[in-house]
Amino acid sequence: MQITQKKCVIIGAEGMLGHALKDVFPEAYSCGHIDMDITDPDAVFRRMRQLSPRVVINAAAYTDVDSCEDNYAFAEAVNGRGPGYLAEACAECGAIFVHFSSDYVFDGAKLEYCETDVPCPINKYGASKLAGEKNIMKNHENFRIIRTSWLFGANGTNFVDTIVVLSKKQQFVKVVHDQIGKPTYTTDLAKKTREVTSREPGIYHITNDGQCSWYEFARTFIPNAVPCTTADYPRPAKRPAYSVLANTKTKPMRNWKDAVSEYMQSRGNHP
Ligand SMILES: NC(=O)c1ccc[n+]([C@@H]2O[C@H](COP(=O)([O-])OP(=O)(O)OC[C@H]3O[C@@H](n4cnc5c(N)ncnc54)[C@H](OP(=O)(O)O)[C@@H]3O)[C@@H](O)[C@H]2O)c1
Repeated sequence: MQITQKKCVIIGAEGMLGHALKDVFPEAYSCGHIDMDITDPDAVFRRMRQLSPRVVINAAAYTDVDSCEDNYAFAEAVNGRGPGYLAEACAECGAIFVHFSSDYVFDGAKLEYCETDVPCPINKYGASKLAGEKNIMKNHENFRIIRTSWLFGANGTNFVDTIVVLSKKQQFVKVVHDQIGKPTYTTDLAKKTREVTSREPGIYHITNDGQCSWYEFARTFIPNAVPCTTADYPRPAKRPAYSVLANTKTKPMRNWKDAVSEYMQSRGNHP
């Protein structure tokens, strides 16, 4: 395949956030899973040397939180070691490395977490994402790690679409009210990523503004949500009770309610 030299490369370009990033960085070279497996260090170094980018944005990840519980080796390869290889390859070619991590690196015992708080994951997905953060920081100085949470947007499996489907099939949709977080629209996050890329290296917490429970979130776009507790809805992976990321470094983005309203309008399904 002929590869033209591009200044920016998006990895994980076929995922939910990857699609939003492609809209915001139309000049970027898009790299999907089929083009490069980030768990294969030879493939990563070969492709990075061919492309010789100035900026690499990694949205590739293994994001099935519950499956990570039984597949930690796989999760750690994709979310832990893969980002480490990418960071090392970026160091070699002198590129800025931008990577996405998660609110699930925290245990949820505090009401909110700022960028300097010490992570303490309570599930395997969070542990694998934390391993990725550590490998990046070990291998490259010029990184931006963007921790984000509760993503929704086009071209991916997400809470909003899942709940809308259930709402049409069922009389009531039970949604947990005792987990609090910050919903984040991929379109807004992708736009903010451009700004963060030109800021100093470090960890950034980027979400839409405002916080809510999953139940409060659902109530804004379906009429038949009913609250339940985490105990009523057991899942393989534990979830933090509070996974509220405080952004102390950049201007806040718009409130999540405005973002979800725009998303619902874009999919032709008004709240
Ligand atoms: N979704 C959320 O609520 C949320 C919350 C906080 C943080 N994040 C983080 O935000 C980022 C983007 O999440 P997302 O929801 O957009 O994820 P997503 O829709 O699941 O997309 C992930 C992409 O990564 C690709 N991928 C998986 N393994 C790969 C590998 N070994 N090599 C190359 N590509 C691989 C997947 O391809 P295949 O489908 O072909 O495997 C998929 O296209 C991730 O870092 C995630 O951890 C997400």
